[in-house]
Amino acid sequence: MDISALKSKLRGSALWKDIEHRKEIGSTNEGIRALAEKGAPGGIVIVSDIQTGGKGRLGRKWESPKGGLWFSFLLRPRMLPGSAPVITLMAGAAVAKALRALYKIDARVKWPNDILIDGRKVCGILSEASAQGGKLDFAIVGIGINANNDARALRLERPIAQPVSVKDLVNREVDIPELLAGVLQAIEREYALVRDGKTDKVLSDWSSLSDTIGKRVEIMDAGARLMGMAKGIAADGALVLETESGDVIVNSGDCRYME
Ligand code: BTN
Repeated sequence: MDISALKSKLRGSALWKDIEHRKEIGSTNEGIRALAEKGAPGGIVIVSDIQTGGKGRLGRKWESPKGGLWFSFLLRPRMLPGSAPVITLMAGAAVAKALRALYKIDARVKWPNDILIDGRKVCGILSEASAQGGKLDFAIVGIGINANNDARALRLERPIAQPVSVKDLVNREVDIPELLAGVLQAIEREYALVRDGKTDKVLSDWSSLSDTIGKRVEIMDAGARLMGMAKGIAADGALVLETESGDVIVNSGDCRYME
């Protein structure tokens, strides 16, 4: 991957400080964690052609062959740890906006962290937060987009939505550095809202792109099962579920649509 054009596109950016390209890495989230623990500033990005130990949510593996866009970045937002889910929603809204703008495809966000196109998963997001002294110290956001890789060849653990690649949706190979630049620019715009204390705008952006709100869903979290109608998003990014016994705030879990 030639990232020189990408670097020059992002030269004027106030957020993106450094973009490191690797041919191969275990997990870009782990690469960023190592830098974060050494005190790196927010705004560093690692992108890798291949991940040999890509991580998905809930301890799952994330297959990351050549052709996909696998990257992570570090943020150091000033916020309470309880609001960290807003960071995942911020990233999801930005990725959906970038995919819409670049390829004119109907990208939608599925709570908490998937991007779907016609019900198929084109992107997954894994955010990991670290807190210290009651404050968020840093957030690592890892984004995996099936770009030019063959989505049919992915061996998925307990998939909820079938995967799809951008190339199959647009019938051509996509330019990965251009896709990464578009996504990073969209994230910079959305993250500016978080920094300016306008998280309500992030949540309304996410809600307007939502595939989940208004649907009957089943949430599985640590063996517990909840069913209800996805009603909206609370101020801290949790899902508000309307159940038979009243509204329930859901902070995490696997979300499955019920037909
Ligand atoms: C999920 O849907 O379960 C989340 C998948 C997140 C995958 C990305 S790829 C880049 C980054 N590095 C990782 O190890 N995981 C994330």
